[in-house]
This record gives sequence, structure tokens and C-alpha cells, in this order.
Amino acid sequence: MKKSPLADAPGYIKHTRLIQWIAEVAALTEPDRVMWCDGSQEEADTLFAQMVATGSMKQLNPVKRPNSYLALSDPSDVARVEDRTYVCTTDPEDAGPNNNWEDPAKMKATLRGLFKGCMRGRAMYVIPFSMGPIGSPIAHIGIELSDSPYVVVNMRIMTRMGRAVIDQLGTDGEFVPCLHSVGHPLAAGEKDVKWPCNKTKYICHFPETREIWSFGSGYGGNALLGKKCFALRIASTMARDEGWLAEHMLILGVESPQGEKSYVAAAFPSACGKTNFAMLIPPQSLGGWKVTTVGDDIAWIKPGKDGRLYAINPESGFFGVAPGTSEKTNFNAMATLKENIIFTNVALTDDGDVWWEGMSKEPPAHLIDWQGKDWTPADGKAGRKAAHPNSRFTAPAAQCPSIDPDWENPAGVPISAFIFGGRRATTVPLVFEAFNWNYGVYMAATLGSETTAAATGAQGVVRRDPFAMLPFCGYHMGDYFNHWLKIGHQIEHTPRIFTVNWFRQDAAGNFMWPGFGENMRVLKWIVERCNGRADAKQTALGWVPRFEDLDWSGNDNVSKTGFEQLAAIDTAAWREELKLHAEWFDKLKSRMPQQLTLKRDLFELALADQRD
Ligand code: GTP
Ligand code: SPV
Ligand code: MN
Repeated sequence: MKKSPLADAPGYIKHTRLIQWIAEVAALTEPDRVMWCDGSQEEADTLFAQMVATGSMKQLNPVKRPNSYLALSDPSDVARVEDRTYVCTTDPEDAGPNNNWEDPAKMKATLRGLFKGCMRGRAMYVIPFSMGPIGSPIAHIGIELSDSPYVVVNMRIMTRMGRAVIDQLGTDGEFVPCLHSVGHPLAAGEKDVKWPCNKTKYICHFPETREIWSFGSGYGGNALLGKKCFALRIASTMARDEGWLAEHMLILGVESPQGEKSYVAAAFPSACGKTNFAMLIPPQSLGGWKVTTVGDDIAWIKPGKDGRLYAINPESGFFGVAPGTSEKTNFNAMATLKENIIFTNVALTDDGDVWWEGMSKEPPAHLIDWQGKDWTPADGKAGRKAAHPNSRFTAPAAQCPSIDPDWENPAGVPISAFIFGGRRATTVPLVFEAFNWNYGVYMAATLGSETTAAATGAQGVVRRDPFAMLPFCGYHMGDYFNHWLKIGHQIEHTPRIFTVNWFRQDAAGNFMWPGFGENMRVLKWIVERCNGRADAKQTALGWVPRFEDLDWSGNDNVSKTGFEQLAAIDTAAWREELKLHAEWFDKLKSRMPQQLTLKRDLFELALADQRD
């Protein structure tokens, strides 16, 4: 008789409901064995060795990149799949037009069919994880069951993972069940492929019962279920119900030369600069300003007793975009990547290290590209990328030289400003400040951005991406706007709200703003605005800095005319933009706050009075 898959369950698991759920899943998915992850280094080493042996990972040169590995995915499994991502609620209205919807019972039936026997020939890993420091009052626990060892080693970096989470859970603690399979069962004796996945993919959320089922993909946000699925889609619905915010935001600290510290949180859509902004190094010429990193992707934000908003980073690692990362653009990221890193879909150098577009000006003479093929600079010139545009590094946050001393403080850090930014070649100026909270919510609710390689589908198309949350809000976007408006009424000290755009282009298609470290000039203005020390002029959009309102010390990139072009409000373009706002609001109209639709009309009137 075949041994029960739970026969080896460690004695320290005393949570009956958890054991029962694992047994149910094992009976459905039929894995060969159940592996109970304790989060130890030895366990990770064993899994890496196993993946190296099967060819699904390469160990990098231990001298150049100690304890680091490279995984190359299947070419069809390289990014989040928004068209295969579902929010399943009893009433389709609750999911909203911003989500794909299916009836929960119907979806579960479909998924049960797909999950039936899907782990045959594989191990099922039990991955206990905490979003937020273990045991902190703001943390929430999830248990991911997955047949992917790649997921285990990534979750170990991205979350607090292992035995301590089980201990915290005790006999009856709350957890979010997160079920994941690559959907590639193996018959007896069948050889595994390097990156198993399935053509059919389903990334499903059940916010009413707080469950996640993900099938068919092994990549990033589709498979590391603590990240977008739990910490945003499920957590945003928890936050709505409980009066807090779960946001797609970086959190950073800014310290003035006088030692005054402020924190800001910023929402930019995927691959629009959060990791870079969170780790920025200010130009020395600004005289001793310092930036520290709390988080680079997700913020959980709660009202504090003192009437301010406090933010924590629920993650413990960075799953960052590799291309474009260099010593010049993001020195802190490069320093973070020295050891203990998992790289996915970057190129391999002949000496066993990694490379990606933008890492150095001159590419190496020869590489193995992300599809495992030979690559030379001639291929690059012909337009073939060595690294996939959405290739990523998984890095422990604690290794980041700019990590903030309070990054694990369970109380969070007090937020002085929210910044919203998209990737816009035209229309949106470098920076402006909203007149007040509600106007800020309007600006965030209408945020537009060009799509990027972080999700499959057309790239470079402007779409509305409110609060950079379009793919991540687990409920109706109109309700989400209402929730933000409500938080503003409840908080005594509301953060100020700003919009930025690092990506405005000139007629020839060049970025007009140098970006990266130079973004400090804008950040400094933002922080000084919050502290009542920076000036601005009033426009139809909000408060916009004049040239003399920014600190230009040491600047040799931007001329006064250049800045004026960056900051210009193109009223004709904004009139067009306002039509898009109206179309967007119309899509959400059943739950759209009137507060925002009226703001649109006021904005249109203000624009009519605005001189170019
Ligand atoms: P996700 O991890 O997908 O949520 O992305 P992210 O928002 O953290 O974006 P990230 O910081 O990784 O940047 C994405 C791309 O934008 C990289 O190729 C960067 O080099 C580029 N980028 C970041 N900041 C700037 C900037 O200020 N100016 C310009 N021109 N490019 C930037
Ligand atoms: C994003 O796409 O916003 C990411 C990467 O941060 S993923 O984990 O794939 O969602
Ligand atoms: Mn992200």
C-alpha cells in the first residue's frame, strides 16, 4: 500500500485545519511526496543542487557571484498573464470591470479538473510564509503548496519563510491558503523539462474566502503567491474591509543634511522605476541628502494613533527588473546583487557570470542568451536581446546598502507624501502637487502609463492604470476610489499627493529628463513642500515648480529651457487626456464616486482658463 503523503509531517505542525487542507490538496494533485519546508540554508542548498542536477538552474561562478544561480524560463512563461488572472466573487459587480470574473463555484470546478493529478511524478512543497515580520501585529500568514522548487527558493528570499511561521500559526492561527502548480505532471520514467509549465494558465483569487489558486505558470507574480496575489489582490480586499491600504508602492526615507527624516511612498506601474527610485543615490552636489530604502514594490499602510499613516514593506526581498540596472543607474541594486541571488532570464557570460542590456555600455563579445543560445554583439545590433526585457533578480533586502534602519519596524514608518507616476512620452509634466487629498485621489485614479514587458500583451500602449493598481486591485476600482477618499476623511494628517513623470520625450524620442539619481532634485522639492519650505506656481493641474524652485546645484544635464519644456502644461493634450478620463470613469460608473466625476468637470473648466 502506498504510504500516506502526510506520513512524514513534522511533529511541530499542530494546526489541524492546515493538515487537513494539505491532505485534501495532496489527494487531489497526487504528488509523489510532500516536502515540508523549514526555510533553512541546508534546505535551500539541497534544492539548488537538485535543480542544478536536473538542468533547471545553473550555478554562477562562485568567485564572481557567490551562492548565486541562473534560471532560464520557457519562452512562453516570462511575465504576469493579466488576461488569465481572475477575481472570483459571488456578485460579478464586486470584482468590477477592472478584473476578469468568474463565479467562485464554477471556477473551483474548472480548477479541480486541472489540478486533478497535476503533481504526479513531483514533490509538493509546503511553504509557510509571513508577509511582514513574523509575529508582528500587521503581518499576515500564508501557506503556499507548490510543485516548483524554483518557487520555494524564491519565496525564501521574498518572504519570511519556514518553521518559525508554523510556530507562529500555533493550533488555530489564520492563514491564506495559496495553491500553486506548474501544471506539468510526469508519467513514471518520463524526463522532466528545464522549466515545466502549462499552456493553460489560471491565476485565481477568491477574496470572499481569502484563497488563491494558481495553475500553469512558474514565473514571478503568477507563481510567488505572497507577492501580487496575496499582498495586493487579497490584501487590498482585506484592507477595504478593515480600513487600511495595500498598495503597489515603494517606500523610501529621505534625510536632509540637517538630519531631518521624512518618508514617502510612491506608486509607479510595473517596470516604471520603483526599485530604482527606492534605492536612489542623490547627487553629491546637493550637499548631503540621503535616501534609504524600506521597500521597492508593495506597501501596507495603516492609520496610526497620532493621525498619520504608517507604512510597512510586507516583503523581505526584491524581485527586480534586471535590464537597465547598472552601477551608474542603480549602484545600490548592483551592490545588493553581489551574492545569494537568483537571476531569471538574464544572459550568461563565458566566465559564469550574468549580463543584461544596460549593465555595461559595451556588451561582452560572447554570451549565452536567455533562451540558451549563443549571442554576440552583432545579434544585439540586429535587435535580439541577450536578456529578456522582463528578466529579474531575486535579492535579499537585508543585503541592500541603502536599507533603512526601520525597514523591519513593525510599527511602520510615517508617510509624508504619496507620489504617483507613469511612463508618459507626452502630456504629463515632470512633477506637480495636487491641491488637496481629493484632487490627489483624482490624479491617481486617472493615472495613465505605457504598458511594459512586466505583463504579456502589447507594449508601449497608454492605458489607465489607477494608483498603478489596475492589475492588482482585488475588487471594483470604483469602490477602491471610494476607499481612498474615505481614508482621507479619517486621517488627521493626510500626506500630500504628487504626480511625477520621468519619461517625457522630445520630438526625436529621447528622454528629456536624465532620471535616476537626478530624480533627487524632484524628491527634494517634494519633501520641502511637505515641510512648507518650497515654492511653486498654481496651475490648472496643481502646484508646479518654477525653474528656480528646484535645487540645480551641480546640474549639467538640464537647461532652463529644457526644464520649462519638461514642466510645460500642454493644454490641448490635456483636453484630449480629459476625454480619456471621462471614458475611463464611464467604465466604472456603477460605483464611481461623484466626488471624482465632478472634479473632472472642474478640471476641464480650470483648463479653459489656463494659459499655455
Ligand atoms: P516592477 O518590479 O515591475 O514593479 O518595476 P519597478 O517599478 O520597480 O521598475 P524598475 O525600477 O525596475 O525600472 C524599470 C525600468 O525603468 C528599468 O529598465 C530602469 O532602468 C528604468 N528606469 C527606472 N527609473 C528610471 C528613470 O528615472 N528614468 C528612465 N529613463 N528610466 C528609468
Ligand atoms: C510587477 O510586475 O509589478 C512585478 C513583478 O513587480 S511580478 O512579481 O511578476 O508581479
Ligand atoms: Mn511590481
